[in-house]
Amino acid sequence: MHCMRFLIAGGIALVAFCAPALAQYPTKAITVIVPFAAGGPTDVVTRLVGEHMGRTLGQTLVVENIGGAGGSLGMTRAAQATPDGYTIAVGNMGTQSAAPALYPNLKYDPATSFAQVGVVNYTPQAIVSKKALTTKTLKEFIAYVKAKGSELTFGHAGVGSISHVAGLVFNAKYGLTPNLVPYRGTGPVLQDLVAGQIDYTVDQSLNVIPQIKAGTIKVYAIAAPERLSSLPDVPTTKEQGDDFIFSAWNAMVAPKDTPKEIVDKLVDALNKALDDPAIKARYVELGSSAPQGAERGPAGLQKLVESEVARITPVIKAAGVTGQ
Ligand code: MLT
Repeated sequence: MHCMRFLIAGGIALVAFCAPALAQYPTKAITVIVPFAAGGPTDVVTRLVGEHMGRTLGQTLVVENIGGAGGSLGMTRAAQATPDGYTIAVGNMGTQSAAPALYPNLKYDPATSFAQVGVVNYTPQAIVSKKALTTKTLKEFIAYVKAKGSELTFGHAGVGSISHVAGLVFNAKYGLTPNLVPYRGTGPVLQDLVAGQIDYTVDQSLNVIPQIKAGTIKVYAIAAPERLSSLPDVPTTKEQGDDFIFSAWNAMVAPKDTPKEIVDKLVDALNKALDDPAIKARYVELGSSAPQGAERGPAGLQKLVESEVARITPVIKAAGVTGQ
């Protein structure tokens, strides 16, 4: 969108010229940065809604996985991308609310460096281990991990990712001291969990449900007030007398100076995807839920980012960890 550069330089005179270009958006494929490895929860839900959004927008949404530094590498790339609507991203609760407290030199601010598009999904965390562990209940599992200490390994998607922060909170709550093993996403974490290479993790339900159903990993609890309809036999933490509740989210953003006309089209396409009956059914299977009402769109996401940054920052500070 050639007129874009001029627009910043030229002011009023060029608005007219840009209008047709904005109206025609998109005229080519859109890159969606996923700041974690392919096959993980953020990647899976991005491809699910991205395919539908592409049909609405008339152009393909192409996922580019840029993992590293708990997702902050990919989100930095997104914040610094040309604000022409052809580079957007799907970050998550980690990159969009925990990262500021963990990375003092973070090159983006989740609340101001992006044009918020909207929340993509919510999904509770699940406490899971490799199949070989003999523990059966959450209490037995916690006692076992506590006794074993750093003999055991906890896999996560990098400092500041959801699985890292959820692990921080869960492990600190019970005084668990496993060896923390970082990956570029919980897709590869899950592969090593199934292979018995690592002992446990606390990951988004949407990522682990297929393996739980396949019986290739063990699940002790869903960290939510209610059971998931897709896992009717899996108890919640609450049912086991425990109050560890951890709900995660993924969200779509664009670089901050992306024209409103373009952001509006992305918001509309995302909302249409979230209202699609097939996607709604897939969300249920994946232990996920879609934002409703005022939770939708840029304002809903902005509010969520600000409240989550305020909620998580003291938790991370108390844990005394940093990403650098
Ligand atoms: C992923 O897609 O790998 C996860 O969202 C990473 C995380 O934040 O735990």
